[in-house]
Amino acid sequence: MVHLSHTKVKALLAMKPESQEVTVKGWVRTKRGNKNVAFIALNDGSVIHNIQVVANPELFSEDLMKNITTGACLRITGSLVESIGSGQPVEIQAREIELFGAADPNTFPLQKKGHSMEFLRDIAHLRPRTNTFGAVLRVRHAMAFAVHKYFNDHGFFYLHTPVITGSDAEGAGEMFHVTTFDLKNPPRTPEGEIDYSLDFFARQTNLTVSGQLEGELGAMALGEIYTFGPTFRAENSNTPRHLAEFWMIEPEMAFYEIRDNMDLAEDFVKYLVKYALDNCADDLAFFNQMYDNELVERLKFVVENDFIRMSYTDAVEILMKSEQKWEFPVSWGSDLQAEHERYLVEKHFKKPVILTDYPKKIKAFYMYQNEDDLTVRGMDVLFPKIGEIIGGSQREHRLEKLEQRIREMGIPEKDLWWYLDTRRFGTAPHAGFGLGFERLILFVTGMGNIRDVIPFPRTPRNAEF
Ligand code: 4AD
Ligand code: MG
Repeated sequence: MVHLSHTKVKALLAMKPESQEVTVKGWVRTKRGNKNVAFIALNDGSVIHNIQVVANPELFSEDLMKNITTGACLRITGSLVESIGSGQPVEIQAREIELFGAADPNTFPLQKKGHSMEFLRDIAHLRPRTNTFGAVLRVRHAMAFAVHKYFNDHGFFYLHTPVITGSDAEGAGEMFHVTTFDLKNPPRTPEGEIDYSLDFFARQTNLTVSGQLEGELGAMALGEIYTFGPTFRAENSNTPRHLAEFWMIEPEMAFYEIRDNMDLAEDFVKYLVKYALDNCADDLAFFNQMYDNELVERLKFVVENDFIRMSYTDAVEILMKSEQKWEFPVSWGSDLQAEHERYLVEKHFKKPVILTDYPKKIKAFYMYQNEDDLTVRGMDVLFPKIGEIIGGSQREHRLEKLEQRIREMGIPEKDLWWYLDTRRFGTAPHAGFGLGFERLILFVTGMGNIRDVIPFPRTPRNAEF
């Protein structure tokens, strides 16, 4: 047990004020007052609320008082008393103030006025000190914890899949290469190709786009596993919903078929949203008030209602019949764009939707092939304001069918020998999905841009910090 000499703001705000001596440490959000009294709003990140400190300037040096400005870090010791002013239950009457670090008001970029999200992205090293990012980061933590709790409570094992791999799990070729070669002068084969047999891993490697393939190996031994780690995509899409580095949660389950997979996906996201409602009430109230008045209502709606389930084919029919003007036209066989997904969820059904049985041409090689020879047992979960939040499938566990698809799609079969071994030795029906962690955080916080729900976003042309 660690016995600290200070108490967190969260705990102080819940204490009964009896003029007891307390110590708090944190950063100044604002200071106001006059020469007779100073009111300092102090925040330590434990909770969205500040604690008010009342200081009599006569008790402290002029120099110290001058240095108490927005952003400065202080220790305050004093007595906890009932607050007469409205807005907070308690306040601290300061007896001692120690200045840990000043923040020059001429150069500290976070002043009282509201800042644009774009400006805050440029100072991502300081933005956790704003109300908005404090709240985002607390919710992010709570959601990560809830992910582990859900799976642990349901008998799933956390499997650590590699970040560096030799394969392209999604077959989309959107990979960041990993090499120790001198890029100016890599070794070459007699044919003039780059000779990766001389590279660090004696092969071409990349940052993983998904832990799924290794996850499947785990499921074929442990039954039910999940991964939760960073994934990387070198797709040049500058949208409010894409990152080049994002976190993905990927459960993989032996003996699950597509229906079980849908049941798990629905139960899992509902659990996460409910966990946020139950455990992040203060932060959600802040988002609801500042950014999105319908947020809490929308979250409750998702928890309380069944998701719509339908086939891709039926969805395309709805989209083609609608009077909507599309930027990208729809017809059977085309990939659905965000505008189509959001139309189904926000206008047509007004509920989350799970689409299944997509054309095999637009999906990855590993999906279970239906009898019709045209569709595969893929599933996407579509959410209001987000579009696709989950992508998954029942897996093709029949060796011949899988090999045939790999050949059709021109995927280098020899690199996947280990993956195919699961189908050679004790193959079994299985299924899984991937939940984009940042898309979940977007949904739960109501924030509008994925760059604002991860501490240090990685996007095309941006890897500062
Ligand atoms: O649909 P995706 O590409 O599916 C897979 O990677 C499968 N291997 C998952 C599986 O079955 N185990 O990605 C899954 C989810 C998407 O639904 C989306 O929420 C998120 O990952 N995602 C991204 N999030 C942020 N930025 C990006 N560039 C993303 N690409 C996918
Ligand atoms: Mg997808």
